[in-house]
Amino acid sequence: MENIIVRIANEDDGKYSQEIVDEMASSAKARGTGIAKRTPEYVSGKMKEGKAVIALTESGQWVGFCYIECWGHEKFVANSGLIVSPEFRGRGVAKAIKFTAFRLSRKKFPSAKIFGLTTGLQVMKINHELGYSPVPFSELTDDDEFWKGCQSCVNFPTLTAKNRKNCLCTGMLYDPEWEQETGPKDWNKLYEKAKFAEKNVVVQFDEN
Ligand SMILES: CC(C)(COP(=O)(O)OP(=O)(O)OC[C@H]1O[C@@H](n2cnc3c(N)ncnc32)[C@H](O)[C@@H]1OP(=O)(O)O)[C@@H](O)C(=O)NCCC(=O)NCCS
Repeated sequence: MENIIVRIANEDDGKYSQEIVDEMASSAKARGTGIAKRTPEYVSGKMKEGKAVIALTESGQWVGFCYIECWGHEKFVANSGLIVSPEFRGRGVAKAIKFTAFRLSRKKFPSAKIFGLTTGLQVMKINHELGYSPVPFSELTDDDEFWKGCQSCVNFPTLTAKNRKNCLCTGMLYDPEWEQETGPKDWNKLYEKAKFAEKNVVVQFDEN
């Protein structure tokens, strides 16, 4: 089985942007959910800034993607737009991408709280493994720009009716302050537990 490489995206990966946004749109349609709309320019901009994670086969076929975004003057970081190409699902790629986006967020914005909104069981499981806790929306950023991203979701009227206090998504948060008690993460241990090697998923991350 061909290896899948998961790494921080760069400018040269811009050629995959159209395929990524097309898959985001068709997956959202299939799930019957709305999703914050992204353009290929937005996706390639994130790659250029070093704020995105990409998964590719060794021969260069696109497999998966996710990006990070700052809110509330860098007090918060969200990992958004997670997508795995249907033919590669169920192999642990989403987990490897989320682990990498989390490491990247901690490295680039060490004191920011990391959060996400999701209805997906797989994503909740991954977040839980990374140490996130479910929280009410009041614990997340109050940055209006972030919440504007929900406008294209089918459940936006519910969010508005609830004064942004809750909705169908679960809010999950990781506070780096918790590491004062737990210590920093042992990534080798986490990768081993996730069995990436057995699944032919290779995570490349340079901590320096
Ligand atoms: C959600 C998505 C990213 C998952 O990608 P994936 O690569 O198949 O996920 P993984 O293989 O890494 O699985 C992650 C975890 O979820 C579990 N899982 C996989 N499929 C599952 C399912 N159908 N139901 C419940 N759990 C499932 C896995 O077992 C794994 O947990 P484990 O390691 O404890 O066993 C992918 O299905 C996708 O792109 N969906 C469309 C877009 C989307 O929903 N994005 C998320 C928006 S929040």
